[in-house]
Amino acid sequence: MTMKGKFITFEGVDGAGKSTHIDEVISFLESQKIAVKRTREPGGTKLGEKLRELLLHDEMDPETETLLMFAARRQHIAEVIKPALDEGVFVVSDRFTDATYAYQYGGKQVAYSKIEALEAWVHPDLKADLTLLFDLPVEISIARLKNNRAPDKFEKESEAFFNRLRNVYLDLARQHPNRYRIINANQTIESVSHDVIEAIRTIL
Ligand code: TMP
Repeated sequence: MTMKGKFITFEGVDGAGKSTHIDEVISFLESQKIAVKRTREPGGTKLGEKLRELLLHDEMDPETETLLMFAARRQHIAEVIKPALDEGVFVVSDRFTDATYAYQYGGKQVAYSKIEALEAWVHPDLKADLTLLFDLPVEISIARLKNNRAPDKFEKESEAFFNRLRNVYLDLARQHPNRYRIINANQTIESVSHDVIEAIRTIL
């Protein structure tokens, strides 16, 4: 029987520099002869990428937004994540359900219990094996986002919104110490890379 692949998720406030380090993790895993699939949320499928366009650019009711995040996620799991894990492929996703707790519960203040209910519906048996939380003081993440000339809807949110979502992520990390590794994203790229690869080694 093929061993199941591991599911690794990257989370954090916008501007924390996840993307660069995801590339590195993919190269590192490939150098270890591990088959790996890189993906992202919202998105990761043809339908999910269409929903991403709406989610990142159209204003909508926060509960509509939450439902669409989970609709995209359901498709992503069915079409990409589950088949890959079943074949023994590692899946590295730029965000997953923790982002809905952080952004829609923390940021937009949708009821926690509604998100829990959607999680229980959409993926009762799927949890990340490792979640890397890129943590950064909110002032620094906002300063980094100012260099971005085409910010999406979330990147234009207030400092208070970012503070709320950062705190939700830190709470999730405290609640799930075995799954979470907090990466201090306020260091040199080399130090962040070092910490990221160390965290990945713990699940190999
Ligand atoms: P990205 O900029 O990291 O690609 O993520 C897209 C944006 O979508 C980011 O601002 C966070 C937001 N988002 C949510 O609000 N809820 C979610 O469930 C997910 C997956 C992302």
